[in-house]
Amino acid sequence: MDNQNYNKPILKNARKRTKNETSVLDYVPTAFDSLLGEGKLYCIQTHGCQANVADSEKIKGLLESQGFVETNIEEIADLIIINTCAIRENAEKKVFGELGRYKSMKLKKPELIVAVGGCMPQEEVVVEKLLKTYKQVDIIFGTHNLHKLLDYLQVAIKEKRRVVEVLSVEGEIVEDLPSARDSRFKAWVNIMFGCDEFCTYCIVPYTRGKERSRHPEHILSEVQSLIDQGYKEITLLGQNVNSYGLDFESREYRFSDLLNDLHKMDIPRIRFTTSHPKDFSTEIIDVLSLGGNLMPYIHLPVQSGSNKILKAMNRKYTKESYLKTVQEIRDKIPSISLTTDIIVGFPGETEEDFIETLDLVEKAGFEGAYTFVFSPRSGTPAANFDDSTPNEEKKKRLYRLNKIVNEGFKNGNLRFLDQMVEVLVEGPSKTNPNMLSGYTKHNKLVHFKGDSKLIGSLTSLQIVEAKTWSLTGEEYHG
Ligand code: SAH
Ligand code: SF4
Ligand code: F3S
Repeated sequence: MDNQNYNKPILKNARKRTKNETSVLDYVPTAFDSLLGEGKLYCIQTHGCQANVADSEKIKGLLESQGFVETNIEEIADLIIINTCAIRENAEKKVFGELGRYKSMKLKKPELIVAVGGCMPQEEVVVEKLLKTYKQVDIIFGTHNLHKLLDYLQVAIKEKRRVVEVLSVEGEIVEDLPSARDSRFKAWVNIMFGCDEFCTYCIVPYTRGKERSRHPEHILSEVQSLIDQGYKEITLLGQNVNSYGLDFESREYRFSDLLNDLHKMDIPRIRFTTSHPKDFSTEIIDVLSLGGNLMPYIHLPVQSGSNKILKAMNRKYTKESYLKTVQEIRDKIPSISLTTDIIVGFPGETEEDFIETLDLVEKAGFEGAYTFVFSPRSGTPAANFDDSTPNEEKKKRLYRLNKIVNEGFKNGNLRFLDQMVEVLVEGPSKTNPNMLSGYTKHNKLVHFKGDSKLIGSLTSLQIVEAKTWSLTGEEYHG
């Protein structure tokens, strides 16, 4: 079964960038003799960022179009799919651990199909490891070909053959894929795919291909259809949304134009992620300052406060220019809530460099941050940089940083104490099923007691308590 002509990833090809215009394909479903998933259950695990969450909704859409029904009980599933993330070693370790469990499940139930997709298979080292030691995996596919999943399933189910197809290409745009969205009121909307930044620590440009923007008319019509279905909030997705449209050859249409057009539409809330500081232009800030359905919340990953480290990371901005952007945002949108991502222990980071990061965190006034210890990724430049800082020291830095970050988190919540806020009610609170929860315009989590009829609505609440990680609200009765 193993001497097939597999299509494996090639890191060298994944790095290539040409000037060729991205082709846009309309998804054409394969016509099968009978429904592939009739009477079959599937279970999907999603790791990583929102790009993967959105991809998983497309995978679900494809599966459900063939009659598969979702279950979250692995033991009864006929098909298990893991949509993987390669961003840090820990993320990968988790997946290999899960695959270990499926080995014994497959011994008991040989007809079980296990599929691994997403960012991990885009790495040469991962596919080699999967082929060598994880024979329980039937299908290996990548980020560029999830729209072919049903064809791969057909081969695995009907022909009982293993399928390995991972493309190391710049990528295309596939429109009209079905999507089974997790929420009835919050939706992800991809506005672009891939990344051309090549930050020296990051695997994403290798796993996701070149930066390619969806045409605005496709985005706007997707949003219109979400409005028609009653959606209340959209989050625009891209690895660097601020460079949206830079790849268009025959039109001048940028992220600020897209925000401007969406601002005029009848969707109550618009968010976006992720922003790259170097491309956060005055035009974008000016559009955001219109307010209305453009939410006063920006996630603006800074990674480090040391200019030496920022240069080594290939981030193309400085501590000073970052703080200048933050100032311009605060001047034009005074109530803005800012969060960030920070990597500690990047190769060559000294105590002085780290202090620069702490200083920047204080000055920028973040109200939250995702903080990480640097994890070397095979094939990226930083994996070969000299790194003499002991792991123990890196962990201490992470701890010191988190203490300051958490204070910012709490301060961000405190400023809403006694205020009225608007919350998009999502459902029962994860920590207390007797409470409901949802997010404010500034992306603050609020728990409150209320009727489940409120789920899916925008509700006004009075904030009566501000804790570090959440707010407590009450319905206002005059
Ligand atoms: N495109 C987004 C984020 C992508 S990954 C951006 O540019 O901001 C999310 C976060 O993971 C990054 O912001 C970074 O802080 C972190 N990250 C990426 N590669 C990493 C690595 N090798 N080690 C540790 N953290 C990493
Ligand atoms: Fe990775 Fe940098 Fe691209 Fe973000 S901008 S995905 S950190 S290479
Ligand atoms: Fe992970 Fe791929 Fe996203 S590596 S962070 S799932 S783009």
